[in-house]
Amino acid sequence: MATTQTDDEQQPTTRIRIFDTTLRDGEQSPGASLNHAEKVEIARQLERLGVDVIEAGFPITSVGDFESVRAIGQEVEGPIVAGLSRCVPRDIDRAGEALKDAHKPRIHVFCATSKIHREHKLRKAFDEIVKLSVDSVRRAREFVDDVEFSPEDGSRTELNYLAEITAAVIEAGATTVNIPDTVGYSVPAEYGHIFAELRRQIPEIDRDGIYLSSHCHNDLGLAVANSLAAVAGGARQVECTINGIGERAGNAALEEIVMALRTRSDHFGRYVTNIDTTRIYPTSRMVSSLTGLSVQRNKAVVGDNAFAHESGIHQDGVLKHRETYEIMDPRDIGVPASKLVLGKHSGRHALADRLEQLGYSVEESMLQQVYERFKALADKKKDVYDEDIEAIVDQLMEKS
Ligand code: KIV
Ligand code: ZN
Repeated sequence: MATTQTDDEQQPTTRIRIFDTTLRDGEQSPGASLNHAEKVEIARQLERLGVDVIEAGFPITSVGDFESVRAIGQEVEGPIVAGLSRCVPRDIDRAGEALKDAHKPRIHVFCATSKIHREHKLRKAFDEIVKLSVDSVRRAREFVDDVEFSPEDGSRTELNYLAEITAAVIEAGATTVNIPDTVGYSVPAEYGHIFAELRRQIPEIDRDGIYLSSHCHNDLGLAVANSLAAVAGGARQVECTINGIGERAGNAALEEIVMALRTRSDHFGRYVTNIDTTRIYPTSRMVSSLTGLSVQRNKAVVGDNAFAHESGIHQDGVLKHRETYEIMDPRDIGVPASKLVLGKHSGRHALADRLEQLGYSVEESMLQQVYERFKALADKKKDVYDEDIEAIVDQLMEKS
């Protein structure tokens, strides 16, 4: 389906759709809240970033969510805009209304299928859930041609049930079936197997524009690993959020999935996305500042420390050849440059490099004196800033 042959490399490439749910599942993060204007601003940035689908909200939940889905659907032209809905007629109708004037509308309906959700939350038998889901997909199709169905807690659902409901909703008109790892319980081999098995059992998948999709939560810190396993198993859409924000421990982080597929194409195969990776870092900053959710310093790809080196051995290596300690070029992500942080672990090489950047040309004996004073200072404070180095050099120069 989405597999093409490139002329130059004669290697098949498979296009992976990026479905961003920052504005829906991401906004469900405790502590995050966005007003209407902020949501529209983020949606515009997601369009520039190149995501394929923006899940803009859950229209039945509030007038605010309804209005945001409506505005984003009209504002954004490139990506598909999705509104979430339970398998409840008034939810579906509200989503349909919110998306009525959208350029590329999608209704995303979900219904829980796992034993624990069937027995304790829905108190319904599996057959009733299949009927409800099929009826809901049909109802959503009365509003739009693009309907996604998610069996909530899919990864904890018996595989034969998952296959049955997937086939039934496809027959009813669903064009994407998303298998959520709602509580982040899965492990990669197990989650990937679900996709391979559904593809094996249901021939419509990958034909006639029918996509399988992953949606992973990060309760065990496996959301990205599980998403990549799903891709290897045959998922052609990946649901994720900027900075991995979302319910509890969050969702799979968009930036990590995209950069893993790109950096390790030798391992995963030639999967391509439409993401302009140079916009990843600015998007991360925007989402962090508008949601108020800060990004941990050591967060992969976009954290403050992701391209910072403090140890002398690493700094020396990076100065000789960046790839000794960097597997990605920071500029590919929109980070202007790597940082050599001067601290007690730093060496003479990094200090000499920083002096040069600060415009000093010092001789070997002077460098040695600056280095000794720098080390003494670094022992007292965590990071040594440019102003500290300038003060040391100026003092030594005055003396000489
Ligand atoms: O985690 C989940 O199951 C969801 C569904 C609504 C797709 O967010
Ligand atoms: Zn979710």
